Amino acid sequence: MPATTRRILITSALPYANGPIHLGHLVEYIQTDIWARFQRLRGHETYYICADDAHGSPIMLRAEKEGITPKQLIDKTQREHQHDFSRFLIEFDHYHSTHSPENQQLVEQIYTTLNQQGYILKKTISQAYDAEKQIFLPDRYVKGTCPNCHTPEQYGDNCEACGATYSPLDLINPYSVLSNTPPEERQSEHYFFDLPQFESFLKQRLETADIQESMRNKLAEWFNEGLQAWDISRDAPYWGFNIPEEKDKYFYVWLDAPIGYMASFKALCAKENLNFDDFWHKDSTTELYHFIGKDIAYFHTLFWTAMLHASNHRQPTGIYCHGFLTVNGEKMSKSRGTFIKVDTYLKHLRPEYLRYYFAAKLSAKVEDLDLNLEDFRQRINSDLVGKLVNLASRNAPFIHKHFDSKLSAQLPDSPLLAHLQSERQAIAELYEKREYSHAVRKIMQLTDRANEYIDQQKPWVKIKNPEDKASVQEIATIALNAFYQLIILLKPILPQLAQDAEAFLQTQPLQWQDLEKPLINQTLAPYQPLMQRIEPQQIDSIIKDSKEDMQQENQLNSTTNQANQPSSTPPIEESAHINIDDFAKIDLRLAKIVRAEAVEGADKLLSLTLDVGELGQRHVFAGIKNHYQAQDLEGQLVAYIANLKPRKMRFGLSEGMILAAGDGQTLHLLNPNGEQAKAGMKIR
Ligand code: 2FM
Ligand code: ZN
Repeated sequence: MPATTRRILITSALPYANGPIHLGHLVEYIQTDIWARFQRLRGHETYYICADDAHGSPIMLRAEKEGITPKQLIDKTQREHQHDFSRFLIEFDHYHSTHSPENQQLVEQIYTTLNQQGYILKKTISQAYDAEKQIFLPDRYVKGTCPNCHTPEQYGDNCEACGATYSPLDLINPYSVLSNTPPEERQSEHYFFDLPQFESFLKQRLETADIQESMRNKLAEWFNEGLQAWDISRDAPYWGFNIPEEKDKYFYVWLDAPIGYMASFKALCAKENLNFDDFWHKDSTTELYHFIGKDIAYFHTLFWTAMLHASNHRQPTGIYCHGFLTVNGEKMSKSRGTFIKVDTYLKHLRPEYLRYYFAAKLSAKVEDLDLNLEDFRQRINSDLVGKLVNLASRNAPFIHKHFDSKLSAQLPDSPLLAHLQSERQAIAELYEKREYSHAVRKIMQLTDRANEYIDQQKPWVKIKNPEDKASVQEIATIALNAFYQLIILLKPILPQLAQDAEAFLQTQPLQWQDLEKPLINQTLAPYQPLMQRIEPQQIDSIIKDSKEDMQQENQLNSTTNQANQPSSTPPIEESAHINIDDFAKIDLRLAKIVRAEAVEGADKLLSLTLDVGELGQRHVFAGIKNHYQAQDLEGQLVAYIANLKPRKMRFGLSEGMILAAGDGQTLHLLNPNGEQAKAGMKIR
């Protein structure tokens, strides 16, 4: 046990119970699991808990589409999530659900306290309502044209083209993505948590809390923008907990989700006979850490922090944010096969490859992490197989063949082992600060040194020389002691490899303090290969299978996922095949070219001003200069995609695209036939 045993409760964000765990999620669970395992390895009393986030409209709507009840959906999903996590060696002390009696009881208790203290307000608000589906629409379920820049097909909360934020009913020509009908505006009374009352508390609290510098800046921005009361209720039909004394009103999923941290811990208390208040009472001296994605920082640093305070609970010791995952430098893409589900990855590769690669790239900063698949393959082959495991595989045979499987009884002074010892404190500090990439770099430098030692000592030469033969036992013992130390240092990242190494070295489960104890006089178990190289075909197979996963996905996902992106995931690119609904998303129209001009400095471009009827004038750049004379184009009707995301080009903004047919040599604009054709008409 370390001099002072800390008592630490650690959480990762609760994944939504309506979709599979994919590599994007894993950045967070791997980061947190490494930290939790490190704390346990050091001998601290550590609890790592999580749960499925099981409420909300997207879950309700998805269950409806699958023809099952929300309860059936969340039960099925939770089983899959737990299975995936455990196969990835994510070791939770408890995994719960927000749809649980513990959570309901805590939610009601916290809400009642907030209400009694005057922190709950009621206000009547106007909302988009889908009369056909008879449901109030969450912002992401309404789409329409941006009121600010007029880009079509924007979500009801903000515009992807100009960044404007607004409410769904501000959209031009809004429609419900559930029924494709225009939403109505309906009034309803909602409950609000009065966040502005906590402004000075939050400012003061977050001044000293353990959060990243970039989050502190973000918070300053949020405070500058001004805090708003937070809408915590939703009207029926909704899948969640009823608000006490209300029939048709429910708590918004984000109110009960973080309380799910407490509920999960409560269930653990029952299982392991722990004291709940030790970790949640406002005077608690234990430590509480939340690991989250940058997209949900607002919920944790402001809402959750204020809710805990208002309900007389403790404050988190630290809130640690991470960035998103990209694959090969781009956001995960279903059509490129880089939207990789955990299940698909595990069909081809062992989990520790990815755990190691993420660790080798993770720092305490809120930065995105790129999984470059070729770099990943090479790094595993070089670091883990070529350097680390190689230490055991090249030295074990000497001990087995020539020394009866036994390490030497003494260890002479060894500069290599002394150096390893001298680095362990620095490495511990790097783990503690979540600077894993730096820790891994140091550990790999030590691994290089150990390999250099063997290269210098040349035991394979000495073993042939009777005079030197005895020294080989010592050399191999030193090398295997280096391996043993490196395994301890890497154990939080590579728990399965550590377990296999413990079996080979015939030790108890290793702890950090075992770094102090040399391994001598020890009989080794027969050496079994500890890790294999990754072959290029294995990576290819993951991509291929992920593309197939995508093809199998049905219509269900596109609507439910859009409105409910899992955290830690940048928006997902959709399928390579399109269905009729996808096609209907293209706003294809006739446009009249009112002006066509050459663009200075561009060989192929013409600058075109278009009349698009009711949409007004638009401006596009088209690469047709080598095929048309500008003046011949004026007055022509052409096919035009009106809702293509505007693109900033070197010469200005291009708002959409005109269509042309070509074979690489010739190019022909698509002109309609017929006198009635006119600018603005929809092409169907
Ligand atoms: O963003 C998400 O994926 C949420 N399900 C995270 C919830 S974390 C917590 F607060 F419960
Ligand atoms: Zn806009």
